[in-house]
Amino acid sequence: MKVLVVGAGGREHAIVRALARSPQRPELLCAPGNPGIAADARLLDIAVTDTDALVAAAQAHDVDLVVIGPEVPLVAGLVDALAAAGRRAFGPVAAAARLEGSKEYAKEVMEAAGVPTAAWASVDDVEAGMAAITGYPTVLKFDGLAAGKGVVIAPDEAAARGALEVFLVERRFGAGRVVVEEFLDGEELSLLALCDGERAVAMAPAQDYKRIFDGDEGPNTGGMGSYSPVAGVDRALLDQIVATVHQPVVDELARRGTPFHGVLYAGLMLTAAGPKVLEFNTRFGDPETQAVLPRLRSDLLAHLHQATQRGGLADAELVWDDGWAVTLVLASAGYPDAPRTGDVIDGLGDVPPDVEITHAGTRASDAGIVTAGGRVLNVTALGPDPASARAAAYAAADQITFEGKQQRSDIALRAVERTTAP
Ligand code: AMP
Ligand code: GLY
Repeated sequence: MKVLVVGAGGREHAIVRALARSPQRPELLCAPGNPGIAADARLLDIAVTDTDALVAAAQAHDVDLVVIGPEVPLVAGLVDALAAAGRRAFGPVAAAARLEGSKEYAKEVMEAAGVPTAAWASVDDVEAGMAAITGYPTVLKFDGLAAGKGVVIAPDEAAARGALEVFLVERRFGAGRVVVEEFLDGEELSLLALCDGERAVAMAPAQDYKRIFDGDEGPNTGGMGSYSPVAGVDRALLDQIVATVHQPVVDELARRGTPFHGVLYAGLMLTAAGPKVLEFNTRFGDPETQAVLPRLRSDLLAHLHQATQRGGLADAELVWDDGWAVTLVLASAGYPDAPRTGDVIDGLGDVPPDVEITHAGTRASDAGIVTAGGRVLNVTALGPDPASARAAAYAAADQITFEGKQQRSDIALRAVERTTAP
């Protein structure tokens, strides 16, 4: 069994690691990968956006399964191109990846499927946007992909007008509409489900930390840490969310003739009125995946394969470790605004073997492994309870040093406090 993983970040490294644990002992390839992934898979120097070259590589290496990490190639139709070439891929076709590629399409599908979400309107000019706002704070979302920079929570009229102008007049992310959305209050939850075109099967719940500084202060990032599972989110709540969110969307897309295969990631707000969807992603989350997959005890490769077949997950049983996983992101100096690169990373060899280090933005150089992006490394530790997993993750992270290293000190603290509360 030969598997090609597409992507170059911490999420893809975590996927490669989980596939390497498969009893099927797959031969692993990764395009383009990174120096950490190179220890676990053979790297192919192909960009995630080079659809033709990726299809050609899948053919040349006679790959049995292509697993796609990031959203950009999904939205661009990589799964469709691979299917046309007779190659099996894990991930949605472009028509189904629109759930992530267009906020308006996601809202329209949710409305058709009766999925709970914030009240919304879609607009294409500033005045219509201002008129659609029903109160403050309000949420403004650029309709297309914007690498995590397309959502603004506006506290007042001036901020809302400014954001609408950036999206619709300045067109910072290109031409596109804006979704004006009701602000939802509560705690966030990421619930990923494997989907086989007919059925959604929940993975373990997780939370991620989006802001750069402790206490959820400062600008948004790609994610500064995560943990799994989530205290208070029990089996009954997970079942309820899958039944009211994931399954209706899978049913609706099947009805539309674009069945959803792959990971349907629901970003949820647990509001006083129940769970409501903030957004859909059509891929594994980053950094949630780094905390979720190390807890999977059943065979990820088998599950991914099952998801590619219509109804293939019918007998799938995902088995999870009872313990906790905590993932810390080590980020470079200047992240997220202006990440500095080229700083030498020390101490990678000093980390205990039961701690999983995944590489996100690193590069091999004459001086050793150096920083090469905003998010540099992820450190994931497991433990029987949140406190021990957290302590092990922080102890390992302390071993790793590079100039200007940024890391939050409060990752999973909430989980520790909850599970130790009287
Ligand atoms: P999104 O990319 O749509 O998940 O938005 C990014 C982040 O913005 C979410 O993770 C939330 O923290 C926040 N957010 C998005 N939509 C809302 C909303 N309707 N109410 C409150 N916060 C939101
Ligand atoms: N953790 C958020 C994302 O993957 O988009």
